[in-house]
Amino acid sequence: MKQATQAKPKPSKEGSQPMAWLNSLRLKRSLLDSYGRKNTYKIAIGINLFLISLGSLFYTNDLVGKLEERELRQVKLFAESLRYAINSDYDEDLNGIMEMIREANTFYEIPAIYLDENNMPAAHNNLSFPKNPSPETQERIITENLATMKEEHAPIPVEIGEGRQGYVYYSNSFLLTQLRYYPYIQLSGIFIVGFLAYLAFSSARKAEQNQVWVGLAKETAHQLGTPLSSLMAWTEYFRADPDMDPSIAEEIEKDVQRLEMITTRFSNIGSVPTLKEEEVAKVVSNFISYLQKRVSSKVAFFINDELPEGQMVLLNKNLFEWVVENICKNAVDAMKGVGEIRITLKPMLAQNEVIIDIQDNGKGMSKTNAAKIFRPGFSTKKRGWGLGLTLAKRIIEIYHSGKLFVKNSEPGKGTTFRIVMKIA
Ligand SMILES: Nc1ncnc2c1ncn2[C@@H]1O[C@H](COP(=O)(O)OP(=O)(O)OP(=O)(O)O)[C@@H](O)[C@H]1O
Ligand SMILES: [Mg+2]
Repeated sequence: MKQATQAKPKPSKEGSQPMAWLNSLRLKRSLLDSYGRKNTYKIAIGINLFLISLGSLFYTNDLVGKLEERELRQVKLFAESLRYAINSDYDEDLNGIMEMIREANTFYEIPAIYLDENNMPAAHNNLSFPKNPSPETQERIITENLATMKEEHAPIPVEIGEGRQGYVYYSNSFLLTQLRYYPYIQLSGIFIVGFLAYLAFSSARKAEQNQVWVGLAKETAHQLGTPLSSLMAWTEYFRADPDMDPSIAEEIEKDVQRLEMITTRFSNIGSVPTLKEEEVAKVVSNFISYLQKRVSSKVAFFINDELPEGQMVLLNKNLFEWVVENICKNAVDAMKGVGEIRITLKPMLAQNEVIIDIQDNGKGMSKTNAAKIFRPGFSTKKRGWGLGLTLAKRIIEIYHSGKLFVKNSEPGKGTTFRIVMKIA
């Protein structure tokens, strides 16, 4: 039996050919590149939006400044025309021109109020009143407008002779107010449309990614099916052969079973997986005993089960085990085959959740790396694909509506991954 195990070729993800290894590296690089490119696009779009916003604000501010200047001149003319109208010694010939000036002020829609020398509103222009206002309403509207005008602009004095003086108060025209708010409305519009477009694109991209994942997984399961059933027939054949060492058939059968498990995982991820009520602590401990035999004997596993007896969780056993396997294998890699893996199962009954913490005392991760580990293609290993955790997150979050994240990680000390599963 020993011989058979030794003779078994070491499985290699990249295949034995150097070309296959090179191709895998290229694929990894292109996966990472696509992330880098995406970030560059985001930064470029962000800078452009910022520049457009800034440009739009500056330009409109400039326009507002010019328009304000114009309105001031217009109101000054209006004040001048009032002076002529009020002074008894005005020139009859200028009457028409003054009339035109007041009409122009009406045209520009600049609200204005004239207070006479007794500080009483004696004339007003472009105030908006309701239809047929009562004298009280009129007075109230005039007082309110006057208050805002006093805050907006300094009044323009009107000399009405004999040392007497009135004042014209005014506020910005509706056009100017609109223009002042225009860039904000425009930019909010741009941001809302941009945000909606981003949501639409990213959901389309996610749907596309889903299709690729599901399609690839289905196809893999399908392709593995035929040689697998043939291999099963072969093991039966070897078993029946009296000249064959039975331990060899046993070893082959174990490998066939492993292949069968992989095929089931792929077929589960390639379709809507069925979730079943399972005793989660049992699933974990059974799988850890299975895994323990397949990793270095210098890795010690400890399970600390704090769940209520027989706590059930709705899960797909095959896929859930795949997640535990990916996390534990990473842990084994991080401790270079020597160390401890502690698994703690805890209830969070208030939230109807169960927590599974997988803690290792491996090399840990920097904060920058920890932020990237769930991205497809991110790996710090020479021969890693950077897909294990992407797949694990997908299984927990999409298929089980749970959560998977790094609870904490410290370089040189270790890492804890947390799986949160909903209770059935
Ligand atoms: N327990 C851990 N301790 C330290 N680093 C870890 C741990 N788990 C994951 N990592 C880091 O996260 C990276 C991504 O892990 P992931 O499982 O997705 O890919 P991988 O293990 O590199 O390749 P593979 O696709 O073969 O699993 C790893 O390369 C490693 O840098
Ligand atoms: Mg991995």
